Amino acid sequence: MNVDIQRLMGEIERLATFSDAPAPAVTRVLYTPTDLAARAYLKSLFAEADLELREDALGNLFARWVGAEPDLPAVGTGSHTDAIPHAGRYDGVVGVLGGLEAIRALQAARFRPRRSIELLMFTSEEPTRFGIGCLGSRALCGAWTAEMLGRLRDSEGKSLDQARTEAGFSGGLETVRLPENYYSAFVELHIEQGPLLEQENLPLGIVTAIAAPASLIVRLSGQGGHAGTVLMPDRRDALLAGAEIALEVDRAARASGAPDTVGTTGIFKVHPGAINSIPSRVELGIDIRDIDGSRRDAVVSRVVAAVGEICERRGIGYEIEWMNADPPAQSGEEVVRALEASAQELGLPYRKMVSRAYHDSLFMARLCPTAMLFIPCKNGWSHRPDEYASPEHIEQGVRVLARTLARLAE
Ligand code: GLV
Ligand code: MN
Ligand code: MN
Ligand code: MN
Repeated sequence: MNVDIQRLMGEIERLATFSDAPAPAVTRVLYTPTDLAARAYLKSLFAEADLELREDALGNLFARWVGAEPDLPAVGTGSHTDAIPHAGRYDGVVGVLGGLEAIRALQAARFRPRRSIELLMFTSEEPTRFGIGCLGSRALCGAWTAEMLGRLRDSEGKSLDQARTEAGFSGGLETVRLPENYYSAFVELHIEQGPLLEQENLPLGIVTAIAAPASLIVRLSGQGGHAGTVLMPDRRDALLAGAEIALEVDRAARASGAPDTVGTTGIFKVHPGAINSIPSRVELGIDIRDIDGSRRDAVVSRVVAAVGEICERRGIGYEIEWMNADPPAQSGEEVVRALEASAQELGLPYRKMVSRAYHDSLFMARLCPTAMLFIPCKNGWSHRPDEYASPEHIEQGVRVLARTLARLAE
């Protein structure tokens, strides 16, 4: 089987030029003109490979290589191409363009799949625009209903419905959910986004479970005022309550009893943001994860209790908006076995591992047996412009993916 790694690297490079940040950074946010231009480029590549294209009402993009028995549930592969602000060029992209290259390699080898093989580009795996990640896959598996999606607003108050309509995606959101038995299996190729494979000098990781993410927005309202004239006993400073909450997130995650618990306050917006003005309003974005869902929930509960206590003590009003609290996902054994057999055939060593980042596979696992294949990335860096995966590792990942798809589609 011939993987054309030069063509693939060229396409990865070209896709990175669709960006709202100067190179090497990549910023590609849902439904922006840049995102739509990148989608048009991808569609042209998929069509050149003779794949049947379909887009749903959210903009999930399906490209199908029709199998000899087209009525059988298909084998799915794919990932996302949206990129958080100032990200790199490999996160998600390797699974989409690498999936395409795997299909082209199988086509060139004159493989004839019995089941259709479908490449998926998910809408908005990243939470950048609407505050919630895995938008497309949440809707595909029915974890989020049309009504829940209908409530989403971006930071400018624009609804998801309006934004998708302006981007040219119409039709009812209730049509996005996939029917049962649509896929027989799903497999996602992705960079590891962590350091383990590189540290252990391994080219491949086979994911057996995906950690459970939860996120919440906490809005605090205190009393603004002049930084010189309001004396300390009279202050109700929303930033200080926020600072205490952020420290509590860190403490609660560290105290969970397991190194698998992580807590991050990644958003801290201060209003009015003037050096001589007491912060009156603060918004925190908090992300808490664990491979054990109930341990994660215990940490979330501790944080929520602390928000109440801190705000009461400081005379601060608060509101908590739950964004998500998803259970972890277990990989499908048959997909893991197919990945292992393919890696073994190619003589490539691997380890089994947990994904601490979430991926659309977290939700695809609700639809069908699902697993992920990780390749190393330099220093474990991701979500930054210097994210890097070598052509050699990408090629090995694509080879294993191609064999795995062939196995699953036979
Ligand atoms: C996905 O990008 C994540 O935050 O894990
Ligand atoms: Mn990402
Ligand atoms: Mn990703
Ligand atoms: Mn991600």
